Amino acid sequence: MTAPHAQPLTSLDEWEDDLKTRYPEPDKPAFKATDPEKKKEEFRNYAANARPSVREFYRLNHTYQTYDFVREKKADYLKLNRRQMTVWEAAEFLNNLVDDSDPDTDLSQLDHLLQTAEHIRHDGKPRWFILAGFVHDLGKILCLFGEPQWAVVGDTFPVGCAFSDKIVFSEFFSGNPDRTNSKLSSRLGVYNEGCGLDKIDLSWGHDEYIYHVVKHGLPEEALYMLRYHSFYPGHREGEYDYLMNDHDRKMFEWVRAFNPYDLYTKNHEKPDSKKLRPFYEDLINEYLPGKLSW
Ligand SMILES: [Fe+2]
Ligand SMILES: [Fe+2]
Repeated sequence: MTAPHAQPLTSLDEWEDDLKTRYPEPDKPAFKATDPEKKKEEFRNYAANARPSVREFYRLNHTYQTYDFVREKKADYLKLNRRQMTVWEAAEFLNNLVDDSDPDTDLSQLDHLLQTAEHIRHDGKPRWFILAGFVHDLGKILCLFGEPQWAVVGDTFPVGCAFSDKIVFSEFFSGNPDRTNSKLSSRLGVYNEGCGLDKIDLSWGHDEYIYHVVKHGLPEEALYMLRYHSFYPGHREGEYDYLMNDHDRKMFEWVRAFNPYDLYTKNHEKPDSKKLRPFYEDLINEYLPGKLSW
């Protein structure tokens, strides 16, 4: 099966913008998640109204993220032998992804990182938390290494075991060859009950990649935020609890604490990257100094 390089999204941000349709900001009127019937209805509306580009993006993602695909990508990228860059250089490199055709925003990738981190800073969180905000999407440089959108962004989910039907557009898993493999489509698949997320392969994307690049320098709470921030089936839908251990459950409080900064801090005011740079250079030097392997 050859995986296609189709790029249905106008920009990577289209996926994150779309997440807000499913997970609206809690104090906004659209939020009715306390009523499960309403939630179901909202979800049906979401699926019916989703943009064709987003729908096609998920179709590709769910069809081609197989257990073998993820294992191959990990074996390749996690050698971290592509480039040597400082964190700030990686942020500038990622900024090449700026996409003028996205009608929703004129913000660059660096702007999103700075807005996320600045909100965390504004709320008086620890310095490592701010840095987690600054680096959380640097893994999107996978796009610049030639990976298609469906292998860089999108809600992540375990491969090697049954796909949850709470995953967005789960009907598209009908095209995934793992579905017809009795081992890989069973509840536990290749895993053991409660074995812990560290032993689980999630669909390949920017989360797992950045986790490996920075894992030597940041506290575990930050590493959970980075590694699982797109794992919406886990941190928002409560799925796959049977694969987690108690430590994961405790650490997921941090993943949930991070999520609102990722989803709800976009605004149209462009951060002044020149003015902010010295603060972030200091912060980077404190935890992740020098050139890192990417
Ligand atoms: Fe992300
Ligand atoms: Fe993000």
